[in-house]
Amino acid sequence: MVEKIIHQEKTEVVRILDAPEENETGVAELTRPEFFPQTVDYLDMDRQYRQLMYVHEAAIEQITAKLNILKGEFQFSNDRNPISSISSRIKSKESIVYKMQKKGLPFTVSALLSNVHDIAGVRVICPFIQDVYYVAQMLARQPDIEIMEVKDYIREPKENGYRSLHLIVSVRVNFSSSSENVPVEIQIRTIAMDFWASTEHQLRYKKDREFSEKDEKKLKHCADLMARADKEIQSLAGDFDLNQW
Ligand code: GTP
Ligand code: MG
Repeated sequence: MVEKIIHQEKTEVVRILDAPEENETGVAELTRPEFFPQTVDYLDMDRQYRQLMYVHEAAIEQITAKLNILKGEFQFSNDRNPISSISSRIKSKESIVYKMQKKGLPFTVSALLSNVHDIAGVRVICPFIQDVYYVAQMLARQPDIEIMEVKDYIREPKENGYRSLHLIVSVRVNFSSSSENVPVEIQIRTIAMDFWASTEHQLRYKKDREFSEKDEKKLKHCADLMARADKEIQSLAGDFDLNQW
């Protein structure tokens, strides 16, 4: 059977693609559970957890695809790119359990969903400070992304010197028979900020060495050096007219 699909409403196109009736195929229709687990109490915990992780993986793919499209667009049409690199991670089971314990939450899927918004995490590294905000704005303008929270650790760095722009966004993800708004934590920072954050993380979590006040001071000093470099590089970018898009 051939159907020509020209200028048809989406609902009409979807109707055309209706699966054959049971008597046409001889195969019974499957009933599908909804994606979000509160509604499917008959599924066991492990399956609910895996489903939940899958939904968040899908959200990561969605955000990563959007960022890759932007990165590609600049590669294609500009001398330079506001995005240097994109990476992502799903929060490990251990980190989830640790965070829920720390917050004193019960180990239920609904407590997890309402309180932990960084199960899906994406990190974007940019050359210049201005690019960080430019990338954030490009994301905020997308119709299927809502910004839920902004933490600007560039304007107000953490006490230890950590700098980065954190967004919690809610992205619409379409599944076979439902759409879900899924939270994703997006960390956007410069190469210099990332250098500091990655090395600080390695130093701080080195297991067999106490982190002293002196170490803390040295790291803070390094963070300030990075911030100064970022500022000067940003000013040079201005001199070279690299802030215009
Ligand atoms: P948690 O998500 O429980 O950490 O609390 P929060 O939501 O208040 O944290 P925040 O938004 O400040 O930071 C979330 C993430 O940012 C962390 O999981 C880290 O990836 C990163 N981050 C925050 N502070 C630091 C820091 O001092 N050093 C490094 N290397 N990374 C940090
Ligand atoms: Mg967080």
